[in-house]
Amino acid sequence: MNKIDELYHALVESNHTVVLTGAGMSVESGIPDFRSKSGWWKNIDPLTVATVDALEEDYDLFHEFYSTRLQTLGDCRPHDGHRILAKWEQKNLVHEVATQNVDELHMMAGSKQVDQLHGSIRTFRCHQCGSSASFEQFKNKESCSICNGQIRPNVVLFGEMLPEDAWNSALHHIERAELVIVIGTSLQVYPVSQLPQMTQGKTVYINKEVNDHHSFFDLIIEGSAKETLIAVDQLIR
Ligand code: NAD
Ligand code: APR
Repeated sequence: MNKIDELYHALVESNHTVVLTGAGMSVESGIPDFRSKSGWWKNIDPLTVATVDALEEDYDLFHEFYSTRLQTLGDCRPHDGHRILAKWEQKNLVHEVATQNVDELHMMAGSKQVDQLHGSIRTFRCHQCGSSASFEQFKNKESCSICNGQIRPNVVLFGEMLPEDAWNSALHHIERAELVIVIGTSLQVYPVSQLPQMTQGKTVYINKEVNDHHSFFDLIIEGSAKETLIAVDQLIR
């Protein structure tokens, strides 16, 4: 049996399937990832832009980085892979998507049970008082209208706690999962990197780059997120 057939059989036989995605899931929608050769962190040290210290001590650099990321998102749309995951949820083949991505492409594609483990770049708040803020306030570098604080996107910065509800929901699904499909993530960032080893179910890794750190997976498919999902979907009536 080839690997696509093996993933198809695991998917249709599983009673509880979790999909864990990272930046590689959005690359085919035109959004760079972080650690492959064309990734964000090839030219920028994340600790200079994606930390609370960076926000508080060099807001202009922080603002420039996240404004650039927002422009890159621009008119990026979900690809067929995102839409297939949403369709599989409707067919009761996928029960949760836990994503490290902040681009909201899974929801835009129609997935309903999505846990955004690293937050969203599309919504904003005051860093000091937590009040909701708008994209316009962030874009115009306005101060918080309540406390005069700094407006930031709702992404998890290095060193910050992950959103508790999202983390607890992902843990709940992972612990019940009979199948965990991990797509487009290097699994280098804690604590999400630990999730695939916290399941009793079958684990599948779909990624462009595979190394020894991934050898614990039951099934490894080295390749494109979109093309792999399309190939499996063609077997589903
Ligand atoms: P780290 O070890 O510094 O931080 C891991 C964070 O996860 C810590 O703040 C820790 O408190 C938290 N954590 C650990 N266990 C947890 C649990 N059970 N529940 C909730 N939170 C828990 O790792 P890091 O590499 O510095 O990254 C920290 C976070 O910032 C990661 O989620 C990373 O992906 C995120 N980040 C986001 C961006 C972005 O642009 N969105 C950029 C860089 C990093
Ligand atoms: N199909 C499959 N895999 C792909 C594709 C693709 N089309 N394009 C890239 N990849 C792979 C890359 O080879 C890489 O191994 O996706 C992986 C993306 O890994 P990272 O760039 O490290 O992104 P991610 O794992 O999501 O990073 C985790 O780190 O900086 C923080 O908060 C940020 O959420 C992010 C976290």
